[in-house]
Amino acid sequence: MRGMQNPVIVALDVPDINLALTLAADLAPVVGAFKIGSELFTSGGPEMVRRLRGTGAAVFLDLKFHDIPNTVAKSVAAAVRLDVQMLTIHTSGGSEMMAAAETSARRTAEATGGAVPLVLGVTVLTSMDGANLREIGVDSQPAEQVTRLGRLAAAAGLRGLVCSPLEITTLRQVLPAGVQLVTPGIRIGGEKADDQKRTLSPREALAAGANWLVIGRPIYAAANPRAAAEQILASLS
Ligand code: C5P
Repeated sequence: MRGMQNPVIVALDVPDINLALTLAADLAPVVGAFKIGSELFTSGGPEMVRRLRGTGAAVFLDLKFHDIPNTVAKSVAAAVRLDVQMLTIHTSGGSEMMAAAETSARRTAEATGGAVPLVLGVTVLTSMDGANLREIGVDSQPAEQVTRLGRLAAAAGLRGLVCSPLEITTLRQVLPAGVQLVTPGIRIGGEKADDQKRTLSPREALAAGANWLVIGRPIYAAANPRAAAEQILASLS
């Protein structure tokens, strides 16, 4: 991915622009990119993205678009105009919605002269189990549903997926080789897992076939975030 020096993407899950920019300035020399999620985007808006991009950092805009194809296409176009390097959509929006998102990313990048961002599909939220799926009318277990949605995403033209550490191996068996996998739920060992129930270490996740690692609390909540990021990078080599 353009402008990314290594596979570590730091989730800036902090409540405001100033905190996020201070953290990013400290970490930029050692990590690959920063993820802006719905909390930070809702408080900081597009200005947050522009200011972070203005520092030269690569940005993953994680707003998980899920709407009718036309609306998702226009939202993706707006994200591409912010010059982000990765963004997310929900695969459960269906193949027409996913294809519209990918086409919009390509067309908008062509029109603006920028690079095409990686449009990533989110399958089943890791907070959902079989009972949660049944209550919304899905009879499959999460693993089966993840595989089904992953295949659908690849067939619709998506070039990447977000998946939990424990889904990497299965998805690698069913997806075309070029599909990029972005994996949260990374823990180094020793620290608490927080609310993440299924974790792997950075090294294990890459060995299993992840391309990119999203790491939040183990870095931003550390006493020394820069040292924590450096320790993670050292564990990869
Ligand atoms: O702090 P932690 O390392 O758990 O942060 C993980 C990041 O990845 C958070 O921003 C979280 O919203 C996101 N994420 C996740 N699990 C998913 C999808 C996204 O933890 N299935």
